[in-house]
Amino acid sequence: MTAPARSTDTPATPARPGFGTVLASRMGIAHYADGRWDTPVIKATGPIEISPAAHVLHYASTCFEGLKAYRFADGSINVFRLDRHVARMLQSARHLVLPEPDPILLAGLVRDVVDAVRAEVPEAPGALYLRPLLMGMLPNIGAAATPSNTDAMLMVLASPVWDYFAGGMKPLRIYVDDQNSRTASHLGMVKTGGNYAAAMKPTLDARAKYQADQVLFCAGGYVQETGAANFLLLRDKHILTRSLDSSFLHGVTRDSVLTLARDLGYSVEERPFTVAEMLEWARDGEAALSGTAAVLTGVGTLIYNGQEHRVADGGVGPQTLRLREALVAIQRGESPDRHGWLQRV
Ligand SMILES: Cc1ncc(COP(=O)(O)O)c(C=O)c1O
Repeated sequence: MTAPARSTDTPATPARPGFGTVLASRMGIAHYADGRWDTPVIKATGPIEISPAAHVLHYASTCFEGLKAYRFADGSINVFRLDRHVARMLQSARHLVLPEPDPILLAGLVRDVVDAVRAEVPEAPGALYLRPLLMGMLPNIGAAATPSNTDAMLMVLASPVWDYFAGGMKPLRIYVDDQNSRTASHLGMVKTGGNYAAAMKPTLDARAKYQADQVLFCAGGYVQETGAANFLLLRDKHILTRSLDSSFLHGVTRDSVLTLARDLGYSVEERPFTVAEMLEWARDGEAALSGTAAVLTGVGTLIYNGQEHRVADGGVGPQTLRLREALVAIQRGESPDRHGWLQRV
């Protein structure tokens, strides 16, 4: 077989692995048993052994976090809003009746993992994605109504990442779904695997039918969030986003963007709003998704009831770009960290 001809007039860019597909060389792990957490260890990333009866495998007793560490131009490594992510993980653990890790232990484990793999943290625009994961380990297949609050495993994985959405800053196509739910209404604010399982099939269907990048779940006709990011509407120096309730994940990026927007003199309105109001706004406003992976990504098209609604001119809007740049500049150490969001490791 002959190798395909390669063009020689443009230098080959190294192919970047998909978001989350490559793990860093070390991971952190700790166990809860006999009423206490053992001392966490950092070890080579590799398979783990668990009981086939482990609660998590049957009853989905699991929650996780997703945060990033950035390499600054001076070579230092800095974790973004670690305290917030630790607090959210504890809140998830509480809702799932799992043993809550000690916040100092968890934050220390994240920092120790970052330190162990610091040579693997990519330069900007890359970052080290960090994935703390808590799982119920009670070995009991008759525990549908029994929590795994006596046995658990905590892990921290790390993964060098670049763009989450394959198209980079290409405006997204979003399918507006007012039929399916991505979560039980009391678990929306919990970062648990079951929510992602619920969003999977509607998202794949929307991708196949409408080439949609994500589904915006709008139970009862009210805008909630997509399968992996929060949703914001922007116009001039005004932002509208759903107010915090138990139906959706309280994004750390959402909070960061709203804080920066207020600093820049934007007015921020947090309240429930309908699909109809969103479509009206989209005529001349902007829409964006916020999340650790998505950062702040513009929405170009909303697809609802089989109809495509272009968001303004269909491109990424100026407010979205401005706020994205303001956030990214802090994360990369290019703007002062006025809110104390970064922790140097
Ligand atoms: C369902 C969902 N909503 C929102 C977000 C955004 O949260 P954060 O900004 O804390 O990453 C995420 C995670 O990235 C998510 O999975």
